[in-house]
Amino acid sequence: MPEAGATTGFGKRTVRDLKTKEGERVLARVDFNVPLEGGRVADDVRIRAALPTIELLLDRGARVILCSHLGRPKGRDPESSLRPVSERLGELIEASVLQAPEVIGPEVRRGVDRLEPGGVLVLENTRWERGETENDPALARELASLADAYVNDAFGAAHRAHASTAGVAEYLRPAVAGLLLEREVTTLRAIVESPGRPLVVVLGGAKVSDKIALIDKFLDTADALLIGGAMCFSFFRAQDKPTGDSLVEEVGVDLARKALAKAESSDGRLLLPVDLVLGDRFDAAAERRDQDGTEVPDGWMGLDIGPRTAEAYAKEVAGAGTVFWNGPMGAFEMAPFAAGTRAVAEAVARAPGTTVVGGGDSAAALAQFGLDAEVDHLSTGGGASLELLEGKPLPGVEALDDA
Ligand code: 3PG
Repeated sequence: MPEAGATTGFGKRTVRDLKTKEGERVLARVDFNVPLEGGRVADDVRIRAALPTIELLLDRGARVILCSHLGRPKGRDPESSLRPVSERLGELIEASVLQAPEVIGPEVRRGVDRLEPGGVLVLENTRWERGETENDPALARELASLADAYVNDAFGAAHRAHASTAGVAEYLRPAVAGLLLEREVTTLRAIVESPGRPLVVVLGGAKVSDKIALIDKFLDTADALLIGGAMCFSFFRAQDKPTGDSLVEEVGVDLARKALAKAESSDGRLLLPVDLVLGDRFDAAAERRDQDGTEVPDGWMGLDIGPRTAEAYAKEVAGAGTVFWNGPMGAFEMAPFAAGTRAVAEAVARAPGTTVVGGGDSAAALAQFGLDAEVDHLSTGGGASLELLEGKPLPGVEALDDA
């Protein structure tokens, strides 16, 4: 067994390396940016993903101060309070979970002073403070002053250089990674650095522009790159095919043209759909038609990949040593247009290779089909996982103590 914390390739100290003493105050940045509905948490995946780190600290008798953003409020906004999150957390762990009324300030300080060893205090939404997204040193210093150690377990926000994700580590040491952050980074890095071959990457979603850096990267490193979702229409437009009323991201057309040109000389294969499912409008009750081929007539829009494409993609996935999937193949939230995404989800779930899924929509699709437990790694980060795979440094990781 490697020594605790000496995870190969991660390069940063982790929470396992902390010599936490009973009663020590630990500030842990988590990504509790979860959907709320009717004042309750609608999806607690990100909260449950942070539990191993929180429980490890509580088991050591730490006083745990949790902080997170929720949504993108511009200042204090009760609608984006962390209170529903702390209520849900209280249902998931044995410890007492208290909610602070602010992010910083005298009330928060009093809350920390009163916190019992083995207890949790959740600070309010870090984005209620303007200094958060500006990475204001004053806010970072104030957060740092609340604790004796800093743990970053917020993989989903690790691509943000904010006061609570990066700035705080300037003023508070030790500054180490949580278990989720470590697992996310090592799993995703392995896809770039040492994937089991063949590496098959399935990319979907609406916009080429969101994924172009990833497409570019994987044209160099993947054995096969399979494209689905509305972004394939930017590729078809670049090939001068009629796209009818399909959603076409215009700025994506030129990017798609460049990717097609690059694919000509790449070792990796770039696969586009060979058939489609069309609708006469973007609506679950739309008239639906199978289209063999990919030319979309006027009055119709492509809303899913067709069955021949789904079968071909599933075959690629089945033969992969590593699969990375990000983005749905069509409008899977509408039953008549869900088959392509379902076929890919089922193939990923069944695949014997290592399977990694990133992005909220793919995670939602897996959950919709009851397959979310069937993949090896379901990333909690959308933008963060894309930036890591593109090879960009993540400020939330860079800021931590080297191993
Ligand atoms: C996410 O949901 O992707 C993360 O929590 C980051 O949120 P942000 O894009 O608002 O920074």
